[in-house]
Amino acid sequence: MKCSDLDMRLTVIGAGHLGLTHAACMADLGHKVLAIDVDRNQIAKAAEGAAPFFEPGLELLLRKNLDAGRLRFATSFAEAADFGYVHFLCVGTPQADNGAADLTSAYAAAETLAPCLTSRCLIVGKSTVPVGTARKLMTLVRALAPAGELVELAWNPEFLREGSAVQDTLHPNRLVFGVTSDSAAQLLRQVYAKLLAAGIPELIMDLETAELTKLAANAFLATKISFINAIADVCETTGADVALLAQALAHDERIGRQHLTPGLGFGGGCLPKDLRTLRATAAALGADSAASLLGEVDAINLARRARIASLARETADGSLAGKRVAVLGVAFKPGSDDVRDSPSLDVCDRLAREGAIISVHDPAATASAARLYPHLRYAESVLEAAEAADLILHLTEWSAYQALDPAALGTVVAHRTIIDARCALDTDLWRAAGWTIRVLGRPWSPGPP
Ligand code: UDX
Repeated sequence: MKCSDLDMRLTVIGAGHLGLTHAACMADLGHKVLAIDVDRNQIAKAAEGAAPFFEPGLELLLRKNLDAGRLRFATSFAEAADFGYVHFLCVGTPQADNGAADLTSAYAAAETLAPCLTSRCLIVGKSTVPVGTARKLMTLVRALAPAGELVELAWNPEFLREGSAVQDTLHPNRLVFGVTSDSAAQLLRQVYAKLLAAGIPELIMDLETAELTKLAANAFLATKISFINAIADVCETTGADVALLAQALAHDERIGRQHLTPGLGFGGGCLPKDLRTLRATAAALGADSAASLLGEVDAINLARRARIASLARETADGSLAGKRVAVLGVAFKPGSDDVRDSPSLDVCDRLAREGAIISVHDPAATASAARLYPHLRYAESVLEAAEAADLILHLTEWSAYQALDPAALGTVVAHRTIIDARCALDTDLWRAAGWTIRVLGRPWSPGPP
């Protein structure tokens, strides 16, 4: 497999968060890119340079590359097959009701593209999939494609984080190439030539190891978060301070600082799903230690949501019925408008079921939250959300909340009580302004009478 031109013709199949970001970044590296999706509305918006989700820097990159003529959008698989030599598969693999990854879109895309593949090409999977999927897709595509065995398949998992997707794609900390031939590896080297020249390490491996690397990376990040949250429980009952402890751990380079912030735990479209996918695989293979470890990580994480709900009830003298609760932050993490498996919304839902009157603020995610949870009230400002509140819950740590003036906020609430479920607020500042502030795993005093 050869491609003399360094500026290649690539296609990106699936223009969601992963695909749209990948398409814009590949075009920015100088390649000619055609991105396709079955969602006509999404494609029409993308063709105008608009991203249907919040991602800093992405729209700028889309417009720059659309204007430069390096990036195009379409809905036809036949057009993609004609246009590209390398086809990146970036479709969503969301969590199904049974907790496993739903591969419907991945198989549908492969089945639609394959009959159009009449000459040599490389399909590169980027979506996160259970181990074994890549090889099944390769068999399927080769059976359906007129080009047969001339179609190769590789797996090149993506490690981008929402909120820093562009930066993560253009400056990844490694490139993982799961391949079945040297020529596929060589082609991937050409695609990523600029990143490799900048010193990004490449790791060449088989398909299965590449698929598993992504799942293991996310499961490990989830494990770090659940570890520190489990330790927060020990701190809670011993009077130790989990925030200071986490800081002290982070100084050890072997442990590191990232994904060690205690609090409400992880959510979003990736960590919970990937953890469960890997757990299901481990259980099916009889790898009982892995299955039980990963199951415990999940259970510790979900228990955080119940714990914050019960702390809210405790703080409200045992009953939330009729209590006004202001919630700060519903995105699954700051810097995002994504509310998939949002720990905050899970807590809101629990409190609403107990009769609390909830008023929610979020700098970016109220529209997406309102679609899923129309029964909650959505406020335009923190002050509006906090009006006459009996309790404030800080559930997603947007930086704007750390800059709040607790004294000013204190003038609109009914009671100066706040639970900081993200361990991010300056407790001294809030106490000095007369607030009772509770943080799981941190010592507290009831505050002024
Ligand atoms: C994650 C991985 O980080 C990324 O490499 C992969 O490609 C996709 O999945 P993302 O889901 O965007 O990225 O978010 P991430 O920043 O990892 O946060 C995930 C969740 O963990 C959020 O709910 C966040 O609030 C929580 N979290 C994160 C913590 O509770 N504590 C931490 O210290 C870090």
